[in-house]
Amino acid sequence: MNILAIDTSCDETSVSVLTNTSIKSNEISSQVKIHKAWGGVVPTLAKRAHQQNFDTVLKKALTKANVSLKDIDFIAVTKGPGLAIALEVGIAKVIQLSKDLHKPLLAVNHLEGHILSFLGNKAWEDKDLEPLFPAVGVVLSGGHTLILYIPNIGEYHLIGQTLDDAMGEAYDKVGRMLSLGYPAGPIVEEMATKGILNKYTLPVPLHASKTADLSFSGLKTAASRLIDSCIKAQDILSQQDIADISLAFENAAITHLTEKMRIALRLKEVRSIIIGGGVCANKNVRKKLRALAKEHNLQFFFPKKRNLCVDNAAMIAIAAYFKEKRGEVLASGTVIEREPNFPLSLL
Ligand code: KG4
Ligand code: ZN
Repeated sequence: MNILAIDTSCDETSVSVLTNTSIKSNEISSQVKIHKAWGGVVPTLAKRAHQQNFDTVLKKALTKANVSLKDIDFIAVTKGPGLAIALEVGIAKVIQLSKDLHKPLLAVNHLEGHILSFLGNKAWEDKDLEPLFPAVGVVLSGGHTLILYIPNIGEYHLIGQTLDDAMGEAYDKVGRMLSLGYPAGPIVEEMATKGILNKYTLPVPLHASKTADLSFSGLKTAASRLIDSCIKAQDILSQQDIADISLAFENAAITHLTEKMRIALRLKEVRSIIIGGGVCANKNVRKKLRALAKEHNLQFFFPKKRNLCVDNAAMIAIAAYFKEKRGEVLASGTVIEREPNFPLSLL
């Protein structure tokens, strides 16, 4: 079975081919260069770039997978959440393709894709998956921070979520305050490796709260105050200050996540921790959550390649594979409405 999947939810145009349970291609055309100048994603520019790049990315994905369009059995697309006018590009392309090829469609939730992206590490057999569940799943991206209880693939119950900024967004905003460019997450991580431990400390958010909800806006404000006080004292921010502040921010943010995961694990008895989303590319995030899993005798799963952490179509193909198994298939040419706030959790 070949699934062709498309994601145009934000600033990456991505097309993937999944053959049975093996990813044959996962092409990503990043728009970072276009949006960099604006310090964030500009929806109209994202839409235009998706339109311009789509055919090339599709062609590359098919060539790499060594398949042609007639070999495709199902066509999957991200329905949401994401930027409305960016989602629309992928959805329109997919509906047209499905009409032309008379192939059925699968409409996927982008967040389910992030959660299942670890399955892109290697081909699986369905029987391998049973021992993983129930699991606690974490989505850590630029737009979402969710902690979920997952009894089984396809069932997602919200345990906690950010009350304000997403974790990736907080990395990006603090990075921007430190003039580290866009997206700043990976650069903050890199700078933090050069920081002096405990030169500065920032408060761990919601430390006393007993829920698994998260918050990053107070930490962001505390980082901003620290930056201002450093500038006041020395007129400029030295490279060492930037490194020290990056480390202080990263430590507080990851400690916060780990504390909330501890609460989640107290609430639910599970067999594994699964993480997904752009922030999972961060080595310290992985390290701390892996240690937490070990401490609780749980298995730990994460997308190993960077292109499975960030937005990509392979994760959409994987989520689509399970949708097909659940019978959630749409007839060729069915109109799919984009859902910019498409929820994942059943609550
Ligand atoms: O999952 P993703 O590609 O897009 C969304 O669905 O939002 O996540 C992008 C986010 C950005 O905020 C980016 O700064 C962050 O992931 N990110 C990181 C790292 N790599 C990407 N944050 C911290 N450390 C990293 N190494
Ligand atoms: Zn994403």
